[in-house]
Parts: sequence; C-alpha cells; structure tokens
Amino acid sequence: RRPFVASAPGKVIMFGEHAVVYGKSAIAGSVDMRAYALVVPHSGHAVRLVLPDIGVDIAFDGRRLPRVQPGALAHPGDVEALLAEGIDVPDGPGRMAALVFVYLYGSLVADTGAQGFSICVRSLLPVGAGLGSSAAYSVALSAALLQLTGQLHGDGASEGDRRLINGWAFQGEQVAHGTPSGIDNSVATYGGFLEYTKGRDPAPLQSTRALRVVITNTNVPKSTKALVAGVRALRDAHPAIVDSILDAIHSVSTTAAELFQAPDADDSDAEQRLHDIVRVNHGLLMALGVSHPSLERVRDIAARYRMASKLTGAGGGGCALTLVPSGAPKSATAEVAAAMAADGFECYDTVVGGAG
Ligand code: PMV
Repeated sequence: RRPFVASAPGKVIMFGEHAVVYGKSAIAGSVDMRAYALVVPHSGHAVRLVLPDIGVDIAFDGRRLPRVQPGALAHPGDVEALLAEGIDVPDGPGRMAALVFVYLYGSLVADTGAQGFSICVRSLLPVGAGLGSSAAYSVALSAALLQLTGQLHGDGASEGDRRLINGWAFQGEQVAHGTPSGIDNSVATYGGFLEYTKGRDPAPLQSTRALRVVITNTNVPKSTKALVAGVRALRDAHPAIVDSILDAIHSVSTTAAELFQAPDADDSDAEQRLHDIVRVNHGLLMALGVSHPSLERVRDIAARYRMASKLTGAGGGGCALTLVPSGAPKSATAEVAAAMAADGFECYDTVVGGAG
C-alpha cells in the first residue's frame, strides 16, 4: 500500500473533424500533456479528493457511500442522488470532476473493503480547449482506482487492463458529458493515433511515429454546436458541393492512416505528404466555413516558417495545430511559438502520438 501515480494524456484531432459527423473517418492522436493522479493509501476509512487547479477538496467516510450498481447511474443527475449520502460536492467548475470521482468510487471501490486514501489530480491540459482534459482526468482516475483495488493484472499497459480502464473512463465521461463519442478516452487510454468512425469502436493505428506539433490556442471562444449547424445548413443548400468536400476530407484521413502505418513512415517523402494533407485539410475546412481570422493568422505565421497549420476541433477560433518538420532545430519551434505568442495566442510545444 505504497503511494503511486497513474497518468493519461490529452488528445488532438489531427484530421477529419466535421466530416466525422457525416460518417467519414477522423484521426486523433495523444498529446504529451497529461493528467496525473497521485494516490496515497492510509489507514482508516477517510477518502479525500484534491484537485488543486480547480479548487476541489472533498472528503467523506468511504463506508458511507453505497456501491453504485453497474449501469444504474449514467448521468450526472443520477450521481447527484449519491450526494444525499452527505458528500459535499462544490458548485462551479470542479463539480463535474467531483461527480465523476464519486461515481467511479461508488462503482470500483465502495464494495471492496479498501481502506482510506487520498487522491490528488493535477493536469497540464488547458480546460475547454478541445484537448480532451476531462477524458485524461477520467482515464487517470479509473486507472488509479482499479490499481488501488487490485483489479488490474499488470501495470495497466496490457490489452486487457487497457480495455478495463477505457470502459470505466468512458462511463466517467458519460457522467461528465452525457453522450460523448468515446474518442477522447480511447486516445487517452491507448495513446498513439486512432482512427474513428461514428458507430464503430475506435481503432488504434499500428504506428511507431510521433509528431512534433505546436498547438496554438487562439483563445477565441467558439460554439461547436453552432459550427456543426453551419456546416449542416451549407450542406442543405449545396449538397453535391459539400458532400464532395466531406469525401475529400475522408480521403485526407485515410491517407493519414496509411502514412502513419507505413513501415518507412519516417522518410522525408512521408513527411512532405503529411505536410500537404495538413494544408489541404485546413483548406477544406475553410471551404466549409469553419475557419476564423485568428486561425488564418496562425496559418500565415506558420507559413513564414514553411510549416503547415490547420484548425483542430470545431474551428471558429479554438485551437490550431502546426506540424514541425522532424529535422527542425528546437529553436525553430521556439521561434514560431514566440511569433504566435506575439499575436496574443497561447502555444504548446508538444509531441503527438506518444504513450497512453
Ligand atoms: O471542438 P471539439 O474539440 O469538441 O471538436 C468538435 C469536432 C466536430 O467534428 C466538429 C464535432 C463532433 O462532434 O465530432
């Protein structure tokens, strides 16, 4: 019963946003900014959750929380019922995170006779930027509670362990978001790159490649719902044109999947092709009307350094990603990031496609 840490990465949509809504394939990758859960077991029955970044510090007597029946609670409203047990969950941004913890505790720990513990989760992921911060939290938490109660077979990395962790993390995401697609928790669990098509299980790509990427948060607020509705309206007005754009985006995603899985994927030809499809994917998204002047600005700056950028996620502001050539010196990334920061954007120098 020694202290331990479980961690999980965030995600970024590399290719295929918006088209994925119409059944086309999308590619997402893990981002090397992670959520870390530190678990400190102790004697007694006190359980404490501390999330210093969002002001959560809750404690309860582990014996007072009844076991959550599997599948009985899928939504926050149901979880709130548990709070009748006298657990004081704060209002505000930490509330969802606290509810996810209470749900997972009731499901995974309450019945096991486990002794008390405290768990502290910190995250390097910006919240609400489309980088999967809640999924990273859910995965790190699920892995931590499964490990604490001896339900993992190894260190969490085997296929069986990952499937277990991912399943619980998805339930955590349902508590937080209602009907998530499951792509975020899958990327956070498996790492690497993953191909996703609506209605199918996300498929991890067999890739050993990791990409240097600068992620830029324009800090321009966006409404995913309004942007998705805008694409739908355009498609209603011009079905033939918009469907061919969506098909072209699908080709971008399938080309990316091939490039990621090619055995000689680190040659310079593959890198040039990746650069091309980043640029093309952004152009297609722009044609769908989901770019924004701030995103075009990011793209102009990147182009000055011969790097390709595209928006990631819903667009209309939000985040962009810029592909950094593998041979570029560290200083090149720093220069691009500094140029973008000078325009008021926030930059993260990341590696995409690393471990889950
Ligand atoms: O803004 P985000 O990161 O939630 O991404 C939205 C992605 C869309 O394809 C535009 C919508 C969706 O539900 O897939």
